[in-house]
Order: sequence, then C-alpha cells, then structure tokens
Amino acid sequence: MKVRKIIAILAIAALVSCEDDDGPDTSRIIVGGPTDSVDPGGETGGGETTDDPLLYNATEYLKDIVNFPMGNIVSAAKLSNSSQDEFREVLGNEYNSITAENDMKMASMYVGPDDYNWSDGDEIVDYAKANGLRVHGHALVWHSSIPGWLNSFDGTDEEFETLIENYIKETVAHFAEVKDDNGNSIVASWDVVNEIWDGPVLRGTLFREKMGDDYASKLFTWAREADADVKLFYNDYNIAGEPGKRNSIINMVSDFQANNVPIDGIGMQMHLNHNWPTDDLPLSIEQIAGTGLLVHISELDVKANYGDDVTELTQERAEEQEDQYQRAGYYYTELVPEAQQHGITIWGFRDSESWLYDGGNDWPLLYDNEFNTKIAHRGLVAGLNGEAVE
Ligand code: GLA
Repeated sequence: MKVRKIIAILAIAALVSCEDDDGPDTSRIIVGGPTDSVDPGGETGGGETTDDPLLYNATEYLKDIVNFPMGNIVSAAKLSNSSQDEFREVLGNEYNSITAENDMKMASMYVGPDDYNWSDGDEIVDYAKANGLRVHGHALVWHSSIPGWLNSFDGTDEEFETLIENYIKETVAHFAEVKDDNGNSIVASWDVVNEIWDGPVLRGTLFREKMGDDYASKLFTWAREADADVKLFYNDYNIAGEPGKRNSIINMVSDFQANNVPIDGIGMQMHLNHNWPTDDLPLSIEQIAGTGLLVHISELDVKANYGDDVTELTQERAEEQEDQYQRAGYYYTELVPEAQQHGITIWGFRDSESWLYDGGNDWPLLYDNEFNTKIAHRGLVAGLNGEAVE
C-alpha cells in the first residue's frame, strides 16, 4: 500500500510539472483518486487551476485503504462506451467490486414468461472477470422493477409463483457459471429481495399478494437451491434512520435462522442526508452486525439538498456531506467485525449521474461533474482510515 501511495504522490508531482501556462490539460488528470484541483467552469473559467475549497487532491485510492471490497455501480452500456474512458479509469483505480445499477434487475432480465435477457448482466460479468472485479448481484426481486407482462399476469397464484421460482433459479444458476481463476463465481452475492418492509410493516407488493406473507423466505430458499455458494442478501433503505424497520428486519433474520431459511447478509442502502441520521448511524450498524450476518453498505450517497433549500453546493453543506461520508466509512470499518465486512458500495460516480441529481439540485457523490474528487471523498478516506469525525 505504501508503494502505491508513493506512486500516486509521484504521479501528482508529474502532473503538476506537466502543466503549461494555459492551465492544466484535464486529459492528464489522474481521476478518481489523486486529482489536480480544477474548476470545471466556475468563476475562474473552465479548466483553470483553482483552490476550489469544494475539491481536494486525493492521495489514496479507496480500495487500497481497506481490506474489504469497495464498490460502485455500472451499466453494460457505460462499460463498453468509447466516450467513458474516465469512468472506467476511476472504476479501476478506486474500486474492486461492482453492482449493476439497473441491468440485473427483474424488469431488465425477465422479458417474458420463462424468457430471459441476461446479455447486459453477462457483459458486466465478463468485464468484471477481465478486470479482477467482484460482482454483487442486484436485485432479483423488487416491487419497483417488475416487467410489464408480469404486472398484468392474469394466471393463477400458483402459476405466478412458479414463474418467480423459475426466474430465481434460472437467473442465479446462470450467473454462477462464470468463475475466476480460483473457481469462485464472479457474481459472489445477490440481493435476493429489495425493500419488503415499509417502515415496520410488510409492504403490500404484487409478490406478497400472489405468494403470501412469507414470500421472501421462498425467494431465499430457491436462490440457495440454484447456487450453494453465492451469498444471499436482504437489502433495504433507511435501516439507519427507522428503528421500526430495523427491528422488523432483525426479527425476520432471526426467524429465517430459526427456520433454516438461508440468508448470508444484510444490505444497508445508506442513502443519507447531509445532516441525518446521526446517533442512529453507529447504533444501526452495530445492531445489523449483531445478527452475525455479512453487512454491506450497498448504496451509499449523501444528499446535500434534501430540503431543496440551496441552489448550489455551499461550503457548509459540502463539509457536512464530507462528515457524513466519513462517519459511514468510519463506523463501518470500526463496528463491523472483519469477517462480516462484505464491503461498501457507492451509488454512482459523478454528481450529474446520480439518481438524486434532480436537474442539478443535489450533489450527493464523491466526484463532481468533471470527475474531480470532492471533499466528500476526503471524508470517506479519513473514515476508512479509522479517523472519527471530531
Ligand atoms: C433503490 C434501489 C436501487 C436504485 C435506487 C435509486 O435504492 O435499490 O437499485 O434504483 O433505489 O433509484
């Protein structure tokens, strides 16, 4: 690790010395880790060196800091797009795990009854294999990603359930096929089901309606039958912020464990706000780790404009956001026992590409629109290095 840090520092020095009088050539910036501080187009004009206090010169790549996987999201289209070199460079520099943002959801893959389109997922897996990345499968069943044909399915409940059983088994078995050099599947884990809890109560979903209240346990059982080794996760949002939901999830896990329903991990999505949650963040991580299962921070981002009350990322907000990233990294690193650390996945690269961007009204990620590292990245680095927020 030390050697890599030194190389990174030398690389920055080389970059700085390469600058000419016209300002830095952004194409030479090492992105997603050590970057030059560039104002993408503010008062100083695009591309001029600035001491922009919202950015910083990173000297450590995320994946080099910790012993657990660091992930981010991808799509097959971006991985193969010739204009996405910077994205792929940041991905390779900073991350060793990937999650498909949408390509491996049911609406993308289950195109008709017993009819599958796994091509985007396959491209992602092939890319991961070629580049030494782990794939976290996301998400087999989610009420917000149901293909139209299934939504309007008018067969019996039994037929519906068989369609879901086939989908789970076929899909999990398919993605277990591609192995790394050690014989382990590139797709190491799956979010079997996403967001079945609505606060503390079971959400009303098509699956619940057709398959009964215990549908989640069926999904996990089928996934295990299809692949004995893949790690099976339950994934949900606001686990940190909603104690009622958290308790329901923990009770569900105990129930699964008591009834031999296979489950290996819990994904805490971790869509945070700049000022929320605070005390419940460490408590929730401890409680989820208390199940003894793997813990995945599976979709980390930090909204800076939740109340829509600012028109640009202010210094104050940026620093609060930096602190939240630091807390997430710190508490995860410190509170989750090593054997249970499945990793941290960030939900996006550039602010402008986030699901929260809202036409420019939020700036939730680690990189600005030009891939410069924001001080949010500095916060995460500090947290991963074991530094608590003061
Ligand atoms: C949920 C899902 C993600 C993503 C986000 C944002 O958190 O789990 O896959 O779709 O919503 O839309």
